[in-house]
Amino acid sequence: MKDFTSKLWEKARKTASRIILAFDPIGEYRKLEKATDLLHSLSDEVAGVKLGLPSLLIYGPKGLEKLLQEVEGPFICDLKMADIGYINRMVAEEVFDLGFEALIAHAFVGIKEGLEEVVGLARERGKGVLAVCAMSHRGAEEYLNKHYLELMEASRLAGVDGFILPATFPELLGEARKRYPGILILSPGVGAQGSPFGSALKAGADFEIVGRSIVLSSSPRERAEEIREEMKVWIKERWPKP
Ligand code: XMP
Repeated sequence: MKDFTSKLWEKARKTASRIILAFDPIGEYRKLEKATDLLHSLSDEVAGVKLGLPSLLIYGPKGLEKLLQEVEGPFICDLKMADIGYINRMVAEEVFDLGFEALIAHAFVGIKEGLEEVVGLARERGKGVLAVCAMSHRGAEEYLNKHYLELMEASRLAGVDGFILPATFPELLGEARKRYPGILILSPGVGAQGSPFGSALKAGADFEIVGRSIVLSSSPRERAEEIREEMKVWIKERWPKP
């Protein structure tokens, strides 16, 4: 059974894309059929798709499960889980049953009776866990991001598959890449949140999470294609050999 990281890199190679689409339903995409059409149309432009609480609430678990069956992943569930391990594990079981290949959990809950249970379950089921070690919005500087070094180390010790780190604070990405040369890093904050496309790849991320810039565009496929092209210069710079 292929693990999440292998599936993600396989799709990235196939699509020549480092975009993780953050799909959150708005407007016509609140209709499941429209969302399905959109994700179909973007399947060769993006390396993976992140869906979260808005999708779960709007489509319901059955609708979300159907969506995941009909379009190409890999799919990451972004509930930013932050409960005790017992509950995290319970939620993670449901998330993986819906068809998600990976989930996002907050690192600040710590390892013991926190991350360890969800990582343990993911290992049993051949799934992935990505840990939020810092966030992209300005308030993240007040508390969370002050601890990103400890949060990255705790995440590594817990055995997660990768980190979520913000494009809006590229120095964090640089430091993360220096300390953990081989770890998978996904980065939100490009486009709508202000950082240029490709800037997180330049700073050390492997993938950029892109939401509104594509989903709210009048031509999402064309916009995704443009963004993918903009990222290429940094892909060549960081990974000169194919
Ligand atoms: P856009 O591109 O619309 O993306 O700004 C919004 C999506 O990205 C998620 N997001 C984050 N997820 N840490 C995360 O784990 C972050 O710092 C972060 N910032 C944005 C957000 O949930 C939405 O799906």
